[in-house]
Amino acid sequence: MSTAAIVLAAGKGTRFRSDLPKVLHRAAGRTMLRHVLEAVRPLGLSQVVVVVGHGREEVTEEAEGVGMSDVTTAVQEDQLGTGHATQMAMPALAADVERVLVLPGDTPLITGDALAQLIDLDAEVAMLSGVLADASGYGRVVRDADGQVLGIVEHRDATPEQRAIGEFNAGMYCIDRQLLASCLQDLGTDNDQGERYLTDVVGLARDRGARVEATAVDPELVAGVNDRVQLADVAAVLRRRHLESLMRDGVTVLDPPSTFVDVDVRIGRDTVVRPGTVLETGTRVGAECEIGPHTRLIACDVGDRATVTMSHGEQATIGEGATVGPFAHLRPGTVLGPSTKAGAFTQLKNSTLGEGSKVPHLAYVGDADVGAGVNIGCGVTVVNYDGHGKHRTVVEDGAFVGSGTELVAPVTVGRGGYVAAGSVITEDVPADALAIGRARQVVKEGWAAARREDRTAD
Ligand code: UD1
Ligand code: CA
Repeated sequence: MSTAAIVLAAGKGTRFRSDLPKVLHRAAGRTMLRHVLEAVRPLGLSQVVVVVGHGREEVTEEAEGVGMSDVTTAVQEDQLGTGHATQMAMPALAADVERVLVLPGDTPLITGDALAQLIDLDAEVAMLSGVLADASGYGRVVRDADGQVLGIVEHRDATPEQRAIGEFNAGMYCIDRQLLASCLQDLGTDNDQGERYLTDVVGLARDRGARVEATAVDPELVAGVNDRVQLADVAAVLRRRHLESLMRDGVTVLDPPSTFVDVDVRIGRDTVVRPGTVLETGTRVGAECEIGPHTRLIACDVGDRATVTMSHGEQATIGEGATVGPFAHLRPGTVLGPSTKAGAFTQLKNSTLGEGSKVPHLAYVGDADVGAGVNIGCGVTVVNYDGHGKHRTVVEDGAFVGSGTELVAPVTVGRGGYVAAGSVITEDVPADALAIGRARQVVKEGWAAARREDRTAD
């Protein structure tokens, strides 16, 4: 039987008080919409239609960016309710679709397993629910004395007795296509918001004698996010889930509550992640690394056995066995080769360090190609910017750049070259040469003693 999904993502998310459409807010590195689509992905449905409206260009871009070939969008110009939104997607369904999975775009904790359970329910209207002691805010599932579902009543339309019901509507349904289409036609707007509610389909179908089945799942799986407080709560759950799966795969996480690892970040076996570490989307960490404490890596690639301590990196590559920090700043385009070192108070940008090269302390290396086995002394500055453009610096294999040197780009230090400490290098240094670029020292014997005597005489 062919099943398609409709994901409702046209709402503004008024309670977010945001310029960004609600479903594009992120939790643990992914937008809420992406989380929902990732749960749909393993179901292998024939078609997924995302209903867009508010911020439709951005939401469409995100839906298409997820990379599922069967995702298309339908437009809901005015947000007239969840039933109306569903109606806007119906014409997009292929002729052979027999059942429709309808999902909200603001339930990022839903999983493929829970959706598979919903699809497997044998009913013309199948739906998921959850049970909470206090289900305030959600629609409630109203059942008769025999436990049969009668319908759903929204919190704002509910009587005090109905508000005492703990079973809430997850907003996720799998409904016979023909039945859904005809019930949608009959939706009224007789409710507190004057909207066409998808929830009313359940009662309408039941009135027509359809089999309605609601299955209660772990309420955490179906939590809806209507404001930023709930967003923070679901993000914490997503992080915990991901850290647990990493720990089960052999990663040591010393303090999970203070460790923020986005859901797509992969970490190898026997790596130790110390407290206060933030690993963001696009980051990959190898095996047997030591990361943290207090380290933030954004879209970085870290090789096996590397150590990164109290540092910040973005779009940087850290080679096998490299040592970073404490207090290093790796900016985009930094590529640290194997067994390199970027030590305390160093900043690197758009630069390559060849195998075994070291920038141990207090240096800036920007727009530079540094070969293998190079030592960049303390306080070296690569002067890459002349106020107009950026220029490249080359330091070839085995060169030594003395402390306090300024390499004024564009400039090359040849293979095995040696730059004396405190030099300002403005011309290329040939291979194996010594370059000294500073004023010659002047010594004036007795000068200081004479000055002291003068002062005493005054
Ligand atoms: C909805 C359900 C409620 C359920 C809850 C579960 C209705 C009327 N109520 O309430 O029973 O307990 O979800 O989380 O369905 N949307 C559109 N177009 C619209 C309106 C909404 O696309 O015109 C989208 C929103 O972007 C959102 C989803 O539908 O992704 C749900 O809308 P929302 O306003 O959050 O519904 P709730 O009040 O949470
Ligand atoms: Ca909601």
